[in-house]
Amino acid sequence: MTDPIRRLSPVVRLAPAKLNLTLSVVGRRDDGYHSLHSVFVPLALADRLSLAPLGGGRDTLHVSGFDAGPPADNLVLRALATTRIAVGGGWSGGPGPTPAVAARLEKRIPAAAGLAGGSSDAAATIDGVLEVWGATLEAHVRLAVAVQLGSDVPFFLAGGPALVEGRGESVAPLRGLHGQPGVVLVTPGLPVSTPDVFAAFDAIRTHGDGAVRMSSAHLAEEFRAGLTTANLVARAGVLASANDLLPATSLVVPALVPFKRALSRLLGRPIGLSGSGPTLWALYASEHEARAAAAVVGAALRDGGLTAPGSSEPFVCATSIVSHSQQGSEP
Ligand code: C5P
Repeated sequence: MTDPIRRLSPVVRLAPAKLNLTLSVVGRRDDGYHSLHSVFVPLALADRLSLAPLGGGRDTLHVSGFDAGPPADNLVLRALATTRIAVGGGWSGGPGPTPAVAARLEKRIPAAAGLAGGSSDAAATIDGVLEVWGATLEAHVRLAVAVQLGSDVPFFLAGGPALVEGRGESVAPLRGLHGQPGVVLVTPGLPVSTPDVFAAFDAIRTHGDGAVRMSSAHLAEEFRAGLTTANLVARAGVLASANDLLPATSLVVPALVPFKRALSRLLGRPIGLSGSGPTLWALYASEHEARAAAAVVGAALRDGGLTAPGSSEPFVCATSIVSHSQQGSEP
């Protein structure tokens, strides 16, 4: 009989970053999490994950690129362990335990940035390791594994732009985006803790006028009906203020406020905040235009026309929003 592990093949996955075009905090749940109404879009900017079966031993992880903290705490290893439990003996070489995996992660998405790189790596791990093992999980089990790893993981597991509700477990695909809008991302070297931002949100929460919730519902409707790149860019002003976490993030990292204003002056564009930050974004008609704008930001940082807060240089990147029709293509 052939060794079942020798028949397994390695896989490579791209784990995209995300942007929240809107983020309305609808309420606080009994479990301490918050209910959201948020339009999430995946970006071409992505981490690269490879997973290879090992003969024996424990799962291993090697990380290169951006610092993502100690590998032992990395969501990739947690995702391997959680998926292994869910699969049990039900894999192509089973019954018996699934083989250990050697994971290599190239971090191109900065960590603690509001871009959900760690959650995306976790989703790519679940999906990728099921392929390595030749295993399947029912949709509700995959979702339970994803939720256990983090609120943003179900979005990445679904793939494509989506309306995300609940804690993050309710993901409704939004398929109407036509084109590939460009995005400039500027992430100051000020890592932001998401729990700190939600705690600040709870502390300062005054009942808003519902404008962010309305903008979010409106954008989701437009996405469903069909939205061109030009339509989306034209809405940038509304979207840039459609994030309920903005006041809380500003409290946690006050230096972000003047920087956001300076960036908006420099680019002559509305600037939004992704998730709990600190990544700031501006929308463009194409990645080509975004690249020109990113060059302007880079030059201003170098010549002192723009001063970024934080202990390290900001991450400045031109990328694009990936719509459903482009999914699967190599960014
Ligand atoms: O689920 P995840 O571990 O990614 O969430 C990180 C933190 O963000 C949580 O501990 C919680 O403080 C906050 N959070 C929240 N409501 C959500 C998502 C995250 O309060 N829907």
